[in-house]
Amino acid sequence: MPTDTDSDIPSTADARPRHIAVIMDGNGRWANKRHMPRAAGHKAGVNATRRIVENSARYGIEALTIFAFSSENWQRPEKEVSSLMSLFVSTIAAEVKKLHKKNVRVQFIGDRTRFSDKLQASINESEALTAANTGLKLNIAANYGGRWDIVHACRNILESVQGGELSADEIDESLFSRYLSLQDMPEPDLLIRTGGEQRISNFLIWQLAYAELYFTDALWPDFADNDFQAALDWYAGRQRRFGKTGQQLAQENTASTPGRQVSS
Ligand code: IPE
Ligand code: IPE
Ligand code: MG
Repeated sequence: MPTDTDSDIPSTADARPRHIAVIMDGNGRWANKRHMPRAAGHKAGVNATRRIVENSARYGIEALTIFAFSSENWQRPEKEVSSLMSLFVSTIAAEVKKLHKKNVRVQFIGDRTRFSDKLQASINESEALTAANTGLKLNIAANYGGRWDIVHACRNILESVQGGELSADEIDESLFSRYLSLQDMPEPDLLIRTGGEQRISNFLIWQLAYAELYFTDALWPDFADNDFQAALDWYAGRQRRFGKTGQQLAQENTASTPGRQVSS
């Protein structure tokens, strides 16, 4: 009997994600385990961030979007928030020139207006310095929330409508996407979340609609080269159906090159 089961269908093996999003979670627990202050966990997390940026560039990943601080993280104890803010300033100062040398384009997403003038200035400078770079697109989500992103898009769309540049019947999914953060790059193909939690925590709620979700118990400061490789290997075995059937994909795959991904 002919089967229509997905197990018969070749996976998108050797397919690499073009865009990876990462929820870098577990810094606090990493520090707690060592009887260290949470701030030490965040500091240790910077090394893991440097590693994933280097690995993404090495593997030819087009875009990497990392969640550094959520719009909800302001609710943490003031001491932790202020240590994170200082860490952002010092990390940007220490890393941006190196990133620039590696041809990385740095962009921040999120509402930066709540940050200190000093942090806003270093964010703006890092973006300006690396704006023309053509390598990895590194997006840093800082004071970012997926719901904020959607509301912000709605406001801008409304302004365009009120300004007469746009009419309501022109608003569709594709137009809406262009008003959101990351509008100039492919949507994330793979989401990695460390720290064992299996939730989105108000990250890119629109843009992750069709991402493959990879959860690992590794705490962010421990996330090593082989963990990144494991996530890529897992991704390569996924079959991305985008609403189609496995059989349709098999037919499309035989008609074209192996490893081809189906896009909408
Ligand atoms: C993620 O690690 C970093 C930020 C949210 C800034 P956490 O600080 O959330 O670490 P855990 O989840 O408490 O271990
Ligand atoms: C998500 O982690 C935000 C960042 C990694 C910056 P959280 O630790 O804040 O998420 P919850 O609170 O466990 O959902
Ligand atoms: Mg956490």
